[in-house]
Amino acid sequence: MIILAEGNIHIKFLAFYVFLLLSFKAKAKCKTGCNFALASYHVWEGANLTYISNIFGQQVPEILQYNRQVLRDYNGTRIKVPFSCDCLNGDFLGHTFTYITQHDDTYNTIAENAFANLTTVEWLSRVNVYAPTQIPDKVPINVTVNCSCGNRHVSKDYGLFETYPLRPGEDLSFVAVETGVPAGLLVTYNRGSNFSSGNGLVFVPARDQNGNFPPLKLR
Ligand SMILES: *[C@@H]1O[C@H](CO)[C@@H](O)[C@H](O)[C@H]1NC(C)=O
Ligand SMILES: *[C@@H]1O[C@H](CO)[C@@H](O)[C@H](O)[C@H]1NC(C)=O
Ligand SMILES: *[C@@H]1O[C@H](CO)[C@@H](O)[C@H](O)[C@H]1NC(C)=O
Ligand SMILES: *[C@@H]1O[C@H](CO)[C@@H](O)[C@H](O)[C@H]1NC(C)=O
Ligand SMILES: *[C@@H]1O[C@H](CO)[C@@H](O)[C@H](O)[C@H]1NC(C)=O
Ligand SMILES: *[C@@H]1O[C@H](CO)[C@@H](O)[C@H](O)[C@H]1NC(C)=O
Repeated sequence: MIILAEGNIHIKFLAFYVFLLLSFKAKAKCKTGCNFALASYHVWEGANLTYISNIFGQQVPEILQYNRQVLRDYNGTRIKVPFSCDCLNGDFLGHTFTYITQHDDTYNTIAENAFANLTTVEWLSRVNVYAPTQIPDKVPINVTVNCSCGNRHVSKDYGLFETYPLRPGEDLSFVAVETGVPAGLLVTYNRGSNFSSGNGLVFVPARDQNGNFPPLKLR
């Protein structure tokens, strides 16, 4: 009797364990990514297309396809850079770039300059082993940039998204004008984002090489 009862407890325990596993699995937030997303890179003084091309590991002509109106002087403008949008750890959509540290780099310079606020110091500290004060020169660093593949509950008309770091002074209407996407749609896709905060990422429906908004690919 006692042995049976114990066996029962084991079975219950096993069932509970399986239940835990299943519920954990059900919590996987993404299964696959999408072909690509765009990164909105605010060009700081001294950065140029060659530099951006190296940072993102993307050829200049490929980048130019998404930027119809690259001016001769793009200091202070935004350049759209394509990158593959992956499902990382079954948890969220993003891409991990490898950046080689330069002399005097800190997580701050990497986040705010090299990657133009497409990532943050907190995020860099989490995906790298180095203490923020002890980053060696000329070593590879993980730089994770978030992305979006769309949301079928919002609209099936949009399947390409730009990861857009807000800058001080860029409010909702500014982003709407800048990107040509209605403000209402921006809000729906970015519930919980504060468009007046002057920082943080928002995800903006974007146009492909042909200038069209590609629809959501249902998987
Ligand atoms: C591009 O930017 C890099 C990094 O700031 C700089 O070293 C390089 O000289 C620049 N190239 C041109 C052609 O301006
Ligand atoms: C680049 O833009 C900044 C900010 O608008 C400005 O202060 C700076 O003079 C510009 N530099 C060049 C070389 O145009
Ligand atoms: C990143 O954000 C910081 C803080 O707002 C700002 O000073 C910096 O100019 C931004 N970097 C770029 C490339 O826009
Ligand atoms: C990217 O997404 C992760 C997971 O949702 C989040 O924890 C992180 O803060 C995001 N990073 C940025 C820079 O917004
Ligand atoms: C980058 O991420 C990989 C995978 O998580 C990890 O093995 C590696 O140690 C990380 N690199 C650094 C510099 O922390
Ligand atoms: C959004 O950010 C602005 C500027 O930081 C702040 O004044 C405002 O209270 C924030 N709004 C919300 C809803 O958090």
